Amino acid sequence: MLDRGALREGASGPDVERLGPEPEPESESGVARACDAAAEGFRHSQLQAARNIHTASHARAHRAGTTCGDCGESFGSEGAHSDRCQGAASAEFTGYTGRRHQHCIRGSKTLTVFRHGAMPGEIREIRAIDLFAGVGGSSAGASAAGVKVVAAVDSWSLARDTYTANFPEVTFLQRRCENVSIRELKKRIGSIDLLLASPECTSHTCAKGSAPRSEASRRTAFQVIRFARAFKPRWIVVENVVHMRSWKRYQRWLGALKALGYNVREQVINAADHGVPQARRRLFVMCDRDDIPSEVTPRSGRRKTAGAILNRNGKYKFSPLRSEKRAMATLERADRALTALGHSKPFLLVYYGSDAAGGWQRVSAPLRTLTTLDRFAYVKPGADGHFMRMLQVPEIKAAMGFPSTYLLDHGTRREKIKLLGNAVCPPVLTAVLRRLTGVGSI
Ligand SMILES: C[S@@+](CC[C@H](N)C(=O)[O-])C[C@H]1O[C@@H](n2cnc3c(N)ncnc32)[C@H](O)[C@@H]1O
Repeated sequence: MLDRGALREGASGPDVERLGPEPEPESESGVARACDAAAEGFRHSQLQAARNIHTASHARAHRAGTTCGDCGESFGSEGAHSDRCQGAASAEFTGYTGRRHQHCIRGSKTLTVFRHGAMPGEIREIRAIDLFAGVGGSSAGASAAGVKVVAAVDSWSLARDTYTANFPEVTFLQRRCENVSIRELKKRIGSIDLLLASPECTSHTCAKGSAPRSEASRRTAFQVIRFARAFKPRWIVVENVVHMRSWKRYQRWLGALKALGYNVREQVINAADHGVPQARRRLFVMCDRDDIPSEVTPRSGRRKTAGAILNRNGKYKFSPLRSEKRAMATLERADRALTALGHSKPFLLVYYGSDAAGGWQRVSAPLRTLTTLDRFAYVKPGADGHFMRMLQVPEIKAAMGFPSTYLLDHGTRREKIKLLGNAVCPPVLTAVLRRLTGVGSI
């Protein structure tokens, strides 16, 4: 049996962090020893009645890529294990992964991860806070991964209205992160395992052009350090524009995370690599206090294209492309597209905002990065010339990777576009969390 005596000082509640010292193997053979030890902890006879239990034999089969003598499950590779677990029909499924040394139980809807040595009675969810929560893209991605978001902070009332419509069970604080009393928040929500944050990016982003940039805005990133120091979550994920790395205080900020004991991985991730029909590159800073964060690898398969988000059933009205009110720059962009594509194909036009890539794109490629502006128009050939309309909110929502059921009932069209253009693409965060925490990954 595992030694469960040594609980960490000051911890409360049935927290994985309260578990006694556990093996943290560095080598493959170390992994094997640790896995055996943990698997022994699952007393097969005692728990069999309640659950589909994995035993030491199961663990060995997983490592060796063979078949478990107890339950008959075969392991060709970690991927095969993954597919099998995701599709497990049993109401609860006890799984196993050597890489992260975790076990999980998959209920009919939720997936819970816990670390080696935890017994099923002590299983708990990964609990998260979402700072700078905006429209809730990070929370949507985390929830899809099986994480329980318990609190969210954003100073914008429209973010609050939209967020709480989608996550009514989450404690939402509508205030600046700087003004949140961590002592009070801790009293209200207890401990957390994961901190999610998308600090202000408008003063890092190149979309801001030559407008003056606010150091006060950039420094909101230091709120991550304040919350991390106080809550000591095992994991942190910070999302921002790639240009955040050029900030003069970026290395100091990163150093502060490391000084708190985090192993840190910075990775620029393209949403198009994770099933989102948008080529949106964002910086993700992934932190783990106990392990070295692994690289998030692209999903296999074809990328989704802009064509996939377009509503072509005539719901939205078009107007002639060539009209007196059209700006010369718009028509020049359209002409470039027509020269490249001919006159029979639809395309997307950069209508507002700057563009360094010709000002148009094919519908057969992922959409270029959406911003907080109403940026793209859809142009299609008609009986007498070309017609255009702006992309609509449901199309932009789909291009960000939000499910169609996500509620966006508050604000004007412009405000909704701003909320969406600021968001984290939920599928990207789901992929990041699966890789970082192991949640939902077996
Ligand atoms: C990049 S967006 C958030 C993206 C969010 N993760 C999502 O997926 O929707 C940044 C948000 O931070 C909020 N914000 C900016 N400064 C803030 C501050 N000091 N405290 C709290 N919220 C702030 C803005 O209102 C905005 O909604």
